[in-house]
Parts: sequence; structure tokens; C-alpha cells
Amino acid sequence: MSSMYSTFAFGKETKQGGFTKFNIQRNEPGEHDVQFDVKFCGICHTDVTFADPNTPITKYPLVPGHELAGVVTKVGDKVGDVKVGDEVGIGCISDSCQDCTYCDIGEEQACAKGGHSMTYNADTVHGHIKTGTGFTQGGYCGSMTVHRQYIVKVPKGYPLEMTGPILCAGITMYSPLKHWKCAEGGKRVGIVGIGGLGQMGIRLAKAMGNSVTAISTSPHKEQAAREIGADNFVISSNPDSMTTASKSLDLILNTVSADHDLTALIGLLARDGTIVQLGVVRKPHAINQLIFFRRVNLSGSLVGGMKDTQDCLDFCHQKNIMPAIEMVTADQIPKVYEKLSAKNDQIVRYVLDINKSI
Ligand SMILES: NC(=O)c1ccc[n+]([C@@H]2O[C@H](COP(=O)([O-])OP(=O)(O)OC[C@H]3O[C@@H](n4cnc5c(N)ncnc54)[C@H](OP(=O)(O)O)[C@@H]3O)[C@@H](O)[C@H]2O)c1
Ligand SMILES: [Zn+2]
Ligand SMILES: [Zn+2]
Repeated sequence: MSSMYSTFAFGKETKQGGFTKFNIQRNEPGEHDVQFDVKFCGICHTDVTFADPNTPITKYPLVPGHELAGVVTKVGDKVGDVKVGDEVGIGCISDSCQDCTYCDIGEEQACAKGGHSMTYNADTVHGHIKTGTGFTQGGYCGSMTVHRQYIVKVPKGYPLEMTGPILCAGITMYSPLKHWKCAEGGKRVGIVGIGGLGQMGIRLAKAMGNSVTAISTSPHKEQAAREIGADNFVISSNPDSMTTASKSLDLILNTVSADHDLTALIGLLARDGTIVQLGVVRKPHAINQLIFFRRVNLSGSLVGGMKDTQDCLDFCHQKNIMPAIEMVTADQIPKVYEKLSAKNDQIVRYVLDINKSI
């Protein structure tokens, strides 16, 4: 049994309570582990979902955050390629079995033996990561220890505060773009919902050489969407605007986080086009059976594996892709959550500055 240490965290100790600061336990690094001081943590809409008292699967005390970036403080003896002082991050995956069909090919998010351990709210079933509670607690905290397998190395010169959003928002878009053959460009890609994920989708799809259509409920986002790479801008709540884009897209990445009309979005797909569902939507969709006319595909995707996550960050560095972020401190979390629940009204990823929050 590895020894434990204590670090501070910002989270919800109880379902009905608000955000407070309290201490949590983490394992001291073992021979394959990396420990780092968390400097920044992006705030994903998923954090808002888990902090919602109506979400039945949330475990308390909840410490959200799966877009961590920081500086290494200790490494285990068997970790050869990460050193004290290096800048690193971790995203949505903090453990997996490391010995199954999917872990073996770098698709840890699909781990066949017990599933991957999400960076928060997952039972610590695989044993590489430990906490005082038996379930993972995330990145709104002072320090993290994980197995080297789940560490992403920050390329020299890439801003540390921009890194976190690549590790969830970025990879969640990069993985389906790659899977659906858009990495070499030349496709027509639609991005629905221009918030944290959506802005990364536009930037990545464009940098890969695709033509990009932003599809949004917010007309005021048009200029900013074009500035970050959108060639076209469609307002999903305006039927005329939707008609202009009818049957024009090969791939749609749909990040909307609330109930919406899926059939209307499917109408934007060309023959053999694919829509990838990414947002957490509680209500089942009604879909018009006539999708068979154009042989369209309905798909889904969950974050991405560790190799792709590193590749995504390296690609962002190489192409100079940086998310639009707004830095916040822990006392602002309730306000940020309110904004994200209502509808992320700006093209922005909020990032928690840990040092300024203490
Ligand atoms: N599949 C995965 O692996 C994965 C990974 C990370 C996150 N997620 C999920 O992906 C979704 C998006 O996350 P995010 O962090 O990008 O969220 P976000 O920053 O809040 O952006 C969501 C966007 O959806 C659009 N939207 C349209 N109608 C909405 C409504 N009624 N309420 C809220 N948003 C609405 C808005 O864009 P417009 O203003 O442009 O319409 C909004 O900016 C969340 O459900 C999150 O849990 C999934
Ligand atoms: Zn996320
Ligand atoms: Zn596995």
C-alpha cells in the first residue's frame, strides 16, 4: 500500500452545498508515477453536469476538473522521459487496466476491463491511482499523482494555461476528426455549438485543411467564429440559414449540451455524411427514419486515447492553435457554472488559476 499525502482542493463536499476549499488525499508516487503541482485547470461543461444536484451518479466529496496542467515535483524510478520541473498535463483519463485490446492500441478511453477511470468521479478500480475516498477527484486542486501512461508532455513554448483545454475539449474534437478521415483535409466539416469544444473543433478542422461551417444558436458569435477559422456560419434556429447549408457537409461534430432538433442537423449532411454526437443530452432524440435516403451515419465519440491526446497537443503547438480562454479564480466558479448552464454565450474556455485561488 503506497503512502498518501494531502493536498487542497476546491469542490463540493455535499450534494446541496456550494464550492468550498478542503483537503483530499492522493498517493505518493510509485515507481511508474508522476506527481505534479497543478497550476491551471480548464472548466468543462461536464464539470457543471457532475456538480448539478440532479445528476444521480455524482459521488461526494466532488472535486471536478479534467483539464489539468502543471509542473512536475516528483517522478518514480522507472519513469525515464519525464523529469522534475517539466510541464505536463492530464485530461479525462487517469487510469485504465493497461492490459486489454483497447489499452494495447492506445484507446484507453474504451478499456475493456472495467472501463477507463475518469479523472474525477470514477471508482479507483485499476489500482494505479489512489485517493482517500476510493474514487477519483479531479483537477481543481493543488497536486496530482498519476501513472506515466496518462501524462501528456507540454511541448516547449506552448503556454501552460492553454494546455488544459486541449486535453479534453481539443482531443474530443481531434479524435473523431481523425477517425472520420478529416486529418488530411479536403472534407466539409460542420461544428455545432461554438463553446469550449466547438472553438477547438473549428480551429483543428481548419488547420487540418478542411472547409469549416460553424452552426450556432448565437448570431453574435459569427465574427469570432470566422476569425478562428470558420468559412461559413449557419444559425441553427433560423430555417432560411439552415436551408443554405442543406446536404452540404461530410462530417458534423455536435457539441450541444441541451435538448435540440437532431433531424434538422442531419439535414445538413451530404450522402454518406456522418454526425458525431458529443454533448451530454439527457432527453432521447426523435430521429426521422428517412435518413436512409442519403445513407447518413449517426455516431458518437468519447474523448480520445493517450497517444492521440499527445498528438493533438503537439499538433496545436505545431500549428500555433491556442484556445480562447478566460482565467478565473475559485471564488468565481459558481458564476462560471451559471454561465455554462445557461449557454456558454462567448467563444471561451474558462480556466481556473490555482495559484491565484489559494
Ligand atoms: N463526448 C465527450 O467525450 C465529451 C467531452 C467533453 C465534453 N463533452 C460534453 O460536450 C458538451 C459541450 O461541452 P463544452 O464544454 O463545449 O460546453 P460549452 O462551452 O458550454 O458549449 C456548449 C455550446 O452548445 C451550444 N448550445 C446550444 N443550445 C444550448 C443550450 N440550450 N444550452 C447550452 N448550450 C447550448 C452553445 O453554442 P452556440 O451558442 O454556438 O449555439 C454552447 O456554447 C457538454 O455536454 C459536455 O459535457 C463531451
Ligand atoms: Zn471535458
Ligand atoms: Zn484496458
